[in-house]
Amino acid sequence: MSIEYNPFLPRPAIVNAVRDESLETKTLKISLINWRANFLPGQFVQLLLPGVGEAPFCIASSPSDSKHIELTIMRRGLVTNAAHYMRPGDAVGIRGPFGRPFPVENFKGRDLVLVATGIGIAALRSLILYTIENRKDFGDITLLYGARFVEDLVYRDELRGWAEKINVIVTLSKPSEKWNGLKGRVTDHLGAINLGKGSLAVICGSPAVMVSVAQSLIGKGLDRRDVYLSMERHMKCGIGKCARCMIPGGFLVCKDGPVFSAGEISLEEVGE
Ligand SMILES: Cc1cc2nc3c(=O)[nH]c(=O)nc-3n(C[C@H](O)[C@H](O)[C@H](O)COP(=O)(O)OP(=O)(O)OC[C@H]3O[C@@H](n4cnc5c(N)ncnc54)[C@H](O)[C@@H]3O)c2cc1C
Ligand code: FES
Repeated sequence: MSIEYNPFLPRPAIVNAVRDESLETKTLKISLINWRANFLPGQFVQLLLPGVGEAPFCIASSPSDSKHIELTIMRRGLVTNAAHYMRPGDAVGIRGPFGRPFPVENFKGRDLVLVATGIGIAALRSLILYTIENRKDFGDITLLYGARFVEDLVYRDELRGWAEKINVIVTLSKPSEKWNGLKGRVTDHLGAINLGKGSLAVICGSPAVMVSVAQSLIGKGLDRRDVYLSMERHMKCGIGKCARCMIPGGFLVCKDGPVFSAGEISLEEVGE
């Protein structure tokens, strides 16, 4: 007899490793106890810290490892601060994976333009690892990643390894004098990216940045349906029951998203 999974109940997990990524960001590698997470890039989980609370985070690891998940967490408030104090061996609970992933099957054979700002890179890491593991299935892949300071850059060590497999462009909007890489916002560098006929784009960052990048790429000829955004909203249930995460158009980010194409939502309204 198989016992059906109750999405309201957290499943047991243990922090396996903690990695400092930047001043405000850590990655928790979490071992799942006697269960597996079958997910695709773009999906999220609700992380429960006993005695503290629960918050949603994108799964930042590759779907090829279903015994562990990695969450990259930026310090913001109650749960995220507590997450930064977690140590290997600490018990946590996980609900999910939830949400609509990136339609990776439809991405095959296409040129991918991945644009991330700030902690938005966490929502893209699973997709980046997936495309690198299945590199021959995709055309050109370009990651354009923007942060303010060099200290804000997440996955700094991994970026070098990714650059051997895909094009990686990093730009800082408030660099120190020592920075000899690209300067400016991601929108300043979109023009340098070759958008072929089969290109599609995935954008993760603050709503205002996502909207301006999406509008710019659509202006350069990309079809709205080929421009994907990963949305963040305050959540409670995570499974489409409470309407806490509703966005204009009546979509529930937890269930209908978090991944949407610009053809489905009103960019003007979600950017407000
Ligand atoms: C689908 C999804 C995926 C996410 N993935 C990640 C991720 O991979 N890494 C990561 O660091 N964060 C991610 N977030 C954001 C993360 O869930 C919030 O930072 C977290 O809920 C804050 O909880 P807290 O208890 O620490 O903060 P609180 O004490 O609840 O609030 C502190 C401050 O953060 C703001 N805040 C709370 N929730 C959000 C939110 N969802 N969006 C914007 N501001 C918020 C509050 O308004 C307040 O100003 C994701 C959110 C969603 C909905
Ligand atoms: S969080 Fe409850 S409906 Fe989305």
